Amino acid sequence: MLRACSKIIGGVRTLCPPVLFDDLDLTCRAVRSGPDSKDKDRKKRPAECEAMQDILAENDRLNVALIGLLALRAGFIDRAAVVKAVAVDWLVDCARKNGIGGGCPKGDKMSAVIIDGKVFAAKVRGQVAAHVARLVEEHGITPGLAVVLVGSDPASEVYVKSKGKMTVEVGMTSIEHKLPADTAEVDLLALIAKLNADPKIHGILVQLPLPAHLNSELVINSIDPAKDVDGFHISNVGLLGTGQKSMVPCTPLGCLMMLRDHHGSLSGLNAVVVGRSNIVGKPMAQLLLGDSCTVTIAHSRTKDLAAVCRGADILVAAVGRPEMITGDYVKPGATVIDVGINRIERGGKTVLVGDAEFESCAAVAGAITPVPGGVGPMTIACLLANTVTACCRANGLAEPEGLTA
Ligand code: GUN
Repeated sequence: MLRACSKIIGGVRTLCPPVLFDDLDLTCRAVRSGPDSKDKDRKKRPAECEAMQDILAENDRLNVALIGLLALRAGFIDRAAVVKAVAVDWLVDCARKNGIGGGCPKGDKMSAVIIDGKVFAAKVRGQVAAHVARLVEEHGITPGLAVVLVGSDPASEVYVKSKGKMTVEVGMTSIEHKLPADTAEVDLLALIAKLNADPKIHGILVQLPLPAHLNSELVINSIDPAKDVDGFHISNVGLLGTGQKSMVPCTPLGCLMMLRDHHGSLSGLNAVVVGRSNIVGKPMAQLLLGDSCTVTIAHSRTKDLAAVCRGADILVAAVGRPEMITGDYVKPGATVIDVGINRIERGGKTVLVGDAEFESCAAVAGAITPVPGGVGPMTIACLLANTVTACCRANGLAEPEGLTA
């Protein structure tokens, strides 16, 4: 399997085969400085700079990576785009061309295989779209997803908009109900009852968190369990816990799909889930148990958490603390699934980081999901997968394979 090395180039974590690092670094400097510059690197090594200019002129992929780095620094694009450009397409292409793969030379930091959630989520959405097309063509049924947003939490508004857009993109019907923040509980329950009874609606999602005056448990448990595409209803929690067919929470389902894809069978692997939330930690543990892993649920109060984590072949970081899981928590070669999405201030900018410190974990792990671009995109893809599954079940049709646990 192809491995990348990780280095900071121009303040940007960059992944590429080790032999290409120096070239990229030098090219970065050379190109930035320009041929007439007094830049000391260019002056010191004019021949290499000229050579790099030639490579740059010839090599589109190198251009992509370089432009990515420069654009990132200028703030034109986000890190995920660079990681994708550098770490995926370009890396694989360069490695193939140069016959590079299978580990880093001594002295270089080894880095993990990057599990690209954006690519994987696009594949899942493609599968969902194909099933939707079949449902429409063969049965005249269009799956419908209703999303209910109470209030105007900015993050929730962004999520809901994105869910609506992707629902339509896969050919399903998207219904959005935006209610004022002071909506009475009885009115919200009445809307849910209406959606429960609507045969055109196969999935219902009430965006969380709800305003404080609303009882989230009561609201979630008023959704018809068969339409509970979040998998949060107490019936679905019980079904999953007892190994029965249920609606499975989207984020852990996305993690499971990526793990199955990466490992094939998970049977017998040691899995440690750091985090005990109802939304991620607990269902994640149930799913891993269902795939015959030996599962430990750990959390922020677990004694010697690092030692517990170092026993994991699969380490799921879902603790909600920015970069809490560092490289010394990771068993060499383990797979790290980072569920965290944390906004922190770094270098005067707001950046997104996971619950795992990427740099140090990637240096030890065999595979890792980045943040952003890892687990995040899988959540909406799995919401769409759950909606098509719910639609098939509601109509007594065969469920799509590979889209649920
Ligand atoms: N808020 C943040 N994530 C989620 C989610 O997965 N489902 C719901 N209902 N609300 C959320």
